[in-house]
Amino acid sequence: MASYLYLLFAVYFTVSQAQPFKAVNLGNWLVTEGWMNPSIFDGITNKDLLDGTHVQLKSTKLQKYLCAENGGGTSFVANRPSPSDWETFRLWRINDTYFNLRVLNKQFVGLETQGNKLVAVSNTAGDPETFHIMRNTDDPTRVRFQASNGQFLQAQSETSVTADCGGSAASWEDSDPSVFIINIVRTLQGEYQITNGYGPDKAPKVLQDHWNTYITSEDFNFLSSNNINAVRIPVGWWIAQDPTPPKPFVGGSLQALDNAFTWAEQYGIKVIVDLHAAQGSQNGNEHSGARDGFQEWGDSYIQDTVAVIDFLAARYANKPSLAAIELMNEPTAPGISIDTLIKYYQAGYEAVRKYSQSAYVILSNRLGPADPKELLSFASNLNGVVIDVHYYNLFSDMFTNMNAQQNIDFIHNQRSSDLSTVTTTNGPLSFVGEWTAEWNVKEESTEDYQKFAKAQQEVYGRASFGWAYWAYKCELPHWSLKWNIENNIIHP
Ligand SMILES: *[C@@H]1O[C@H](CO)[C@@H](O)[C@H](O)[C@H]1NC(C)=O
Repeated sequence: MASYLYLLFAVYFTVSQAQPFKAVNLGNWLVTEGWMNPSIFDGITNKDLLDGTHVQLKSTKLQKYLCAENGGGTSFVANRPSPSDWETFRLWRINDTYFNLRVLNKQFVGLETQGNKLVAVSNTAGDPETFHIMRNTDDPTRVRFQASNGQFLQAQSETSVTADCGGSAASWEDSDPSVFIINIVRTLQGEYQITNGYGPDKAPKVLQDHWNTYITSEDFNFLSSNNINAVRIPVGWWIAQDPTPPKPFVGGSLQALDNAFTWAEQYGIKVIVDLHAAQGSQNGNEHSGARDGFQEWGDSYIQDTVAVIDFLAARYANKPSLAAIELMNEPTAPGISIDTLIKYYQAGYEAVRKYSQSAYVILSNRLGPADPKELLSFASNLNGVVIDVHYYNLFSDMFTNMNAQQNIDFIHNQRSSDLSTVTTTNGPLSFVGEWTAEWNVKEESTEDYQKFAKAQQEVYGRASFGWAYWAYKCELPHWSLKWNIENNIIHP
């Protein structure tokens, strides 16, 4: 009897003390991130030439790179021995084989108004800016570009790049001035790329199948039996446009989010809805829904972004599982100014409070060069707000040569101190909304991973709102909380 009472008490205590949360990110579910599950892109023709693929083009005849002089706004040359920003072009995909190319200053590569010379002067992409890319089947790095006048681009000399080479793509010889080597230097595999890559006929089914199978009620069952009490769910702005968001995004993910709330309630798990992708892109990454990697979110997007928050808050405010709405994931400095961000956070906060007094409102700190305390005084004037920080021992040269013990020490020293600067007594709560047990250490043992994860759980457990592991599922095993739990690395 005593143990029965104790059990009741323990259950009650756990539920009433949900915070600080031990949460997990349901990443790559409603916002695509190809690196976590690349095979979903396999059905796309020319799947390496997606929107935002950054390419450099070398003339085989001249052995020099194509360059938009000054990064755009003027002419083209083919005289650079080594490529950098002016020699890098971002693809916009029209269909499997037709593309536009955008230069550093955002103009599109195209033909001059009267004539066949290649220029980068137009801010919009029409026929003169559209190219049919033909690849050599034996060596797909060899390409030719057919322009809207039917002729192929050629670099006859270092200062003459023109679309006036006739003939079919018969020759792939180095000496042919219309042959270029295409180097892919950056790829994006986000929502824009998968939906536009498959195109409007195929994308809806691919995405629906993914939403229906990637996360199910079984996963909520698994999480609750393993001591995880919340999920952070990344969503994109297009979810509020359901069922017919502007192309190429496809509708239907709202149904999946509704399901998550149902399962959450069933298994006693809280939900944090996280606007991971804002229109215009707040960080240029594939997980922000960016088309070509330019970061364009700013003042002119505030109204539309607040409307997304309003939509989500209205829909889920009365769900008992709703813990929080995060207004925007990883806005990045210096592209996003602190003034613009605070203006948006104020309006987003008010949108949530129209519908709910109890849901927390999460404000992500800026990534990049920014003071981690910059939101504290603003946030102290609001009720029920949380500052989100993301801690990875990755993505910086600083971690490249650290061994296992140095990584663990970094958590106990630096991260612990970083976290305490945003964990205040009367201000907003603190939240380590993303962390992982993956690192750069080579030849590590299972025990090293266990220690690294444990150190992070210990330190991030001091965040007053809690932590969220990135992610629940991932093809790379150490990024997957599910795999870590099943393999005894992490015990939440
Ligand atoms: C691809 O786009 C180009 C340019 O708009 C068009 O001419 C061509 O017919 C399209 N191809 C297919 C298969 O839709």
